[in-house]
Amino acid sequence: MDEPLHPDVAELGFLIGTWRGRGTGVYPTIEPFTYEEEITIRPASGKPFLVYEQRTRRPATGEPLHAEVGYFRAVGGPTVELVVAQPTGIAEVHTGTVRDATVHLRSVEVARTPTAKEVTSVERTLVVEDATLRYELHMGAVGQPHQLHLKAVLHRA
Ligand code: HEM
Repeated sequence: MDEPLHPDVAELGFLIGTWRGRGTGVYPTIEPFTYEEEITIRPASGKPFLVYEQRTRRPATGEPLHAEVGYFRAVGGPTVELVVAQPTGIAEVHTGTVRDATVHLRSVEVARTPTAKEVTSVERTLVVEDATLRYELHMGAVGQPHQLHLKAVLHRA
């Protein structure tokens, strides 16, 4: 069903769709891994934000891995905001920019439940070119400096 798009989120319209692909994950404290991913980004009944849903699986077994949900918020001009919640007990609050089909976001807050892993910074860059979405995620976590955790390439379904 086509939902109306708020004029402020037109800048983010290139993100809208269902995207499927694969990624790789690294961090100094873990074994490198690969994952399959589906991302859906959709308008929200004419409101100035986009609804974001993501889930991943381990390719060999289909076992669910990370998942998250959130909102991209258009606040005028090139400024964008993102809120994301994860079942691992982490909530990210970001501010950033959108330019040339590239969204760059850096956390201003990372909140954690008492049992969540220690994540202190998250940075997300998403680039859409034709029907391909590429992203990278850097984080500071578990005592390690801010660095790459994820890199993925997805295609519009
Ligand atoms: C595509 C999304 C993601 C996938 C597939 C993914 C997958 C994984 C996997 C497989 C591990 C290693 C073993 C484990 O703990 O299960 C891991 C570790 C970790 N991930 Fe992710 N992750 C994703 C996104 C994130 C995000 C968004 C954050 C932070 C906001 C995050 C934070 C961490 C942390 C803190 C660790 C633990 C490092 C340690 O304990 O040494 N991950 N991730």
